[in-house]
This record gives sequence, structure tokens and C-alpha cells, in this order.
Amino acid sequence: MKLLHIDSSIQADSSASRAITSEIVKQFRARDPGLEIDYRDLAAAPLPHLSFAGLATPEAQAVLEDFLAADIVVIGAPMYNFTISSQLKAWLDHILIAGRTFSYGPEGVTGLAGGKRVVVALSRGGLYSEGMPGAANEHAETYLRAVLGFIGIADPEFIVAEGVALGPDQRQAALEAALARSAPVAGSVLARAA
Ligand SMILES: Cc1cc2nc3c(=O)[nH]c(=O)nc-3n(C[C@H](O)[C@H](O)[C@H](O)COP(=O)(O)O)c2cc1C
Repeated sequence: MKLLHIDSSIQADSSASRAITSEIVKQFRARDPGLEIDYRDLAAAPLPHLSFAGLATPEAQAVLEDFLAADIVVIGAPMYNFTISSQLKAWLDHILIAGRTFSYGPEGVTGLAGGKRVVVALSRGGLYSEGMPGAANEHAETYLRAVLGFIGIADPEFIVAEGVALGPDQRQAALEAALARSAPVAGSVLARAA
């Protein structure tokens, strides 16, 4: 089984999403030591902005093939300026490819990547959960759910740490709760993938 691990935070050691993806991958590895893990750090090695010429390069093809080859995809998604990082957007621009991950037909759109299990580690400085005043400005989780659903991944798991910029206590509590969810999520994803 293959796992693709993606990070996209511009922060290094202080990144919440990196800490969470690292724990999620550790939990997968503990349950399946034979797991083949491919890692892509989109901040350290950013992909170019979208262009038709760029999509035709061997590097772009490799990005798509790595995604297509993965059974499980773990995505670190920091919220910057109310949505995902531009680095992660550039990666999505490389994997939303007609004929490979989705197709259009008379019935509408068909997602072609439905067999994959996706876990997103999402970190947000403020509070955007349902019922919070900030909820209407949440364009990271909502966007990722739309994009993943479009390519057939209807049931991604989200592990969210929010309020991490509101003070050290809130940050620690949010991180601890997110890290604690990693083990059960990895367990249930593997049970579904089996
Ligand atoms: C450039 C930048 C923009 C940010 N924009 C937002 C924002 O719009 N809303 C928010 O709640 N937090 C915002 N934050 C806080 C981040 O969401 C928070 O630091 C989160 O942990 C980012 O994930 P990371 O720690 O993995 O980088 C921003 C942080 C940075 C550095």
C-alpha cells in the first residue's frame, strides 16, 4: 500500500499542520510497517503556477502520477488569508486533470479518484467551526471538500486544529486534540481501505 504525504505550510518547526501530518503518518506506519511512503514538501519545493506548458513537463506528470499511485493521501493544509496556501493550490492544479482524475460527460462530472483515502490536517489561527461568527469566512475546509469531492473523494477525513493563534493555551489544547485524533482516524481509514 502507498501513502503520499503532502505538507504545504510556510512555517517550519512552529507549523501546526506539519506536526499533525507527521503524527498521522506515524500512526499509519505503526499499523502498517510495510507502507510505502512518498513525501512532498510544497513549501521547500514549490510547484509552478498553473500553465498549459507547465502541465506538460515531466515534473508535472510526476506530481500527477504520484497522486494516482497513492492509496492514502495525507495533506497538511494551513489556513492563510482565509483559504489554503498557494503552494497547496498549485499542487491541486496539477492533480485536477480531465481524463485522469475527473471526466465530463452527458451526465455531468465523474470523479475518477474515488478509491483513495484522504486525510487532511487543517490548522487555522481563528475559529471557523459551524456556529462560530467566522464560519462564513471559512474557505479552506469548504474548498478542499469541494475539490476532493469533484474528483470522487466524497469522504475525506479532516483533523482540524483551530484557534491556534488565539494564545498558547488555546494552541496547545487544539494541537493536543488534533494529535489525539490521529490514531483513531488512521485506524478507521485503514479498516476502510482493507
Ligand atoms: C501568512 C499567514 C496568513 C494567515 N491567515 C490566517 C487567516 O486568514 N485566518 C486564520 O484564522 N489564521 C490565519 N493565519 C494563522 C494560521 O492559520 C495558523 O498559524 C495555522 O497554524 C497555519 O498552519 P501552519 O502552522 O501549519 O503554518 C495566518 C498565518 C499566516 C502566517
